[in-house]
Amino acid sequence: MNHYYITGSSSGIGKALAEELLKDEHHVVHGMARRQTIEHPRYRHTTMDFAWQEAVLNFSFEPHPDDTKRIVLVNNAGTLGDMGYLGEMRDEDIAASLNVNLLTPAVLTNKFLHQFAGHPAEKVIINITSGAATSAYDGWSIYCTSKAGVDMLTRVGVEERKYRHDGRTHILGIAPGVVDTQMQNQIRNSSELEFSRVEKFHQLKANNQLYRAEDVAKELAHIIANPNKVTEVISRISL
Ligand SMILES: NC(=O)c1ccc[n+]([C@@H]2O[C@H](COP(=O)([O-])OP(=O)(O)OC[C@H]3O[C@@H](n4cnc5c(N)ncnc54)[C@H](OP(=O)(O)O)[C@@H]3O)[C@@H](O)[C@H]2O)c1
Repeated sequence: MNHYYITGSSSGIGKALAEELLKDEHHVVHGMARRQTIEHPRYRHTTMDFAWQEAVLNFSFEPHPDDTKRIVLVNNAGTLGDMGYLGEMRDEDIAASLNVNLLTPAVLTNKFLHQFAGHPAEKVIINITSGAATSAYDGWSIYCTSKAGVDMLTRVGVEERKYRHDGRTHILGIAPGVVDTQMQNQIRNSSELEFSRVEKFHQLKANNQLYRAEDVAKELAHIIANPNKVTEVISRISL
């Protein structure tokens, strides 16, 4: 069997990816989110709030037998938090958003590599990033900062695997493009005072230019099955 751990499996890209992977009877999906929205015989859910550090610190991956072919971690859960300018935000929201977007992928990656070190399965870690990692969007300071951190976590992780001569573990950062999910609803519901570019996102929706989460999920599933074919450490899905 192949085992897939997906954070943020309750909606959007994470849910679509879980459902895509569950189509194959050799796949078991382990989802993590505050809500459980998938019922399936090969789906296992851990209800977790990643804003709460203790929940993440206490998490353990399941042991898997040596004949497991592939073990995958998809660090997908993310939040924009409260959009707004520095100086006008709630301190608690900054802490919670950084926990979800950056602390969680860092700790889960550390645990994953530790727990499965020496396991004969092929291992894949996919970090879901964003164009916001490299562009300074007003109103998104914490989101941009955490995605930039995720990119660097990915790059350092890849370097370290080389020093460890670990050719069985692939680490990739994937930006999914602009995808029609709850996160996009939140962006469109913001005001120009919180985010000056909001009109552009209204237009993308009105012009049907958002990717469907199902299409992005198919592409992600293909990447996970063929990680060697991705030549860039950080890349963007283009459909
Ligand atoms: N949509 C886009 O255009 C776009 C573009 C670039 C990058 N991304 C990235 O894609 C990833 C998925 O986003 P999406 O668009 O699919 O958004 P979404 O539909 O809002 O899904 C976000 C997921 O993250 C989980 N999550 C959020 N806060 C959490 C918390 N405190 N504890 C546990 N889980 C939490 C949510 O689960 P619960 O609410 O059940 O906890 C949900 O399953 C994110 O990393 C996002 O940054 C999205």
